[in-house]
Amino acid sequence: MSNPASPFAVDVLDERPGLTFPPGFLWGAATAAYQIEGAAAVDGRTPSIWDTFSHTDGRVLAGHTGDVACDHYHRLGEDVALMAELGLKSYRFSVSWSRVQPGGTGAANPRGLDFYRRLVDELLANGIEPWLTLYHWDLPQPLEDAGGWPARDTAARFADYTTLVADALGDRVRYWTTLNEPWCSAFLGYGSGVHAPGRTAGADAVRAGHHLMLGHGLSVQALRAARPTAEVGVTVNLYPVDPASDTPADVDAARRIDGLANRFFLDPLLRGSYPEDLVADLSAVTDFDHVQDGDLATISTPLDLVGVNYYSRHVVAAPTGSVEAEPAPSCWPGSEDVRFVTRGVPVTDMGWEIDAPGLVETLRRVHDYTDLPLYVTENGSAFVDTVVDGEVDDVDRLAFFDAHLRAAHEAINAGVPLRGYFAWSLMDNFEWAWGYTKRFGMIHVDYDSQVRIPKSSAKWYASVIRRNGLAA
Ligand code: NOJ
Repeated sequence: MSNPASPFAVDVLDERPGLTFPPGFLWGAATAAYQIEGAAAVDGRTPSIWDTFSHTDGRVLAGHTGDVACDHYHRLGEDVALMAELGLKSYRFSVSWSRVQPGGTGAANPRGLDFYRRLVDELLANGIEPWLTLYHWDLPQPLEDAGGWPARDTAARFADYTTLVADALGDRVRYWTTLNEPWCSAFLGYGSGVHAPGRTAGADAVRAGHHLMLGHGLSVQALRAARPTAEVGVTVNLYPVDPASDTPADVDAARRIDGLANRFFLDPLLRGSYPEDLVADLSAVTDFDHVQDGDLATISTPLDLVGVNYYSRHVVAAPTGSVEAEPAPSCWPGSEDVRFVTRGVPVTDMGWEIDAPGLVETLRRVHDYTDLPLYVTENGSAFVDTVVDGEVDDVDRLAFFDAHLRAAHEAINAGVPLRGYFAWSLMDNFEWAWGYTKRFGMIHVDYDSQVRIPKSSAKWYASVIRRNGLAA
């Protein structure tokens, strides 16, 4: 399994020392409803913002939609069997709100809930711990029509939906996360508009971010009321943000982007306040009049765990200066003039720089906020894969996982209470605005035949799980 052309040839890995993880470490893989389920109009499901968005010309590359995706809705048994072969200890999936509560209000859809009951039962029967995410970006379209996340009422609707799912599945699901990556929902959905619903107003993005967090707090309270024994958390996507140089202007640019990317969420969720510098940076965008008394107490409702999604690092430069850099995309309201630096280090097929030490920094930083157990709820990479003689030898992806697991182990040695790691993703799937053109899976999916092929990374991950660590 070595590929000398690769920046991460596997023979390099063979030189590395073995590492053992703590007993009971929760080895998992993750997916999300809209990215894999398909069956978009089956058994009473109605459109979410991602159905509308992907069916709008020019929004998703090549006009791809999640209508069929990996057809997981109809292949649940086969897919859980693959998870069992991998030896997964846990599987992180999300529930499609529009499937279980069509339209986002009112009564539950029993046929939609049945799908998740069958999934959870199948997982449990195979000794795999279900890890349920309530919201992975697919807001029911009627709630967007009523204002979407910039509207306060959406937070209350999310709490109602939480109760309905907790009542149906709370007896058999122990781990719950409310939101997945609220930064993306808020700033890509309502700021740059590259994600659904595709709106482009900085003030709306900031309001959306607040109401997502408010919805999270209300959802935690609803879960606690319905299932006092549930382990409840939230998943945030975090990045180390470095200045391109130590000039005060570059250092300030890094502070601004760090505020929007990381502290916008970490501070309210874990400290119950917005950072003052962030509020000042956003003063031309919003006066935060959407924040009501008591909101921050709700948002910081105590949790049992924090989920961290880690992919890469940002290196940024001041609006002017000698460093070569690109202007910030419009997902950074009030800081659009900050420039992003490309360092020339190896990148994935998404163009994201590969930076395993950034995972150690990120986990240590979250641990500085809280002593709660932490989980890497996503980490992974897109690379171009080729099927040769029915096999996919994805050495780059395997090396990416290896490097990041070493970083995770280093974080544990440094005292971070990291309790588990979820590879993104179990299988190739609908990569949002990139459609099916980017492959993140450990299992290859042929979208015409729906044939699944475990890649080299899957076989390697199975051995990691079996030995609870990395081989010498
Ligand atoms: C994070 C998101 O949660 C997931 O849906 C997405 O596919 C991966 N990042 C890769 O971009």
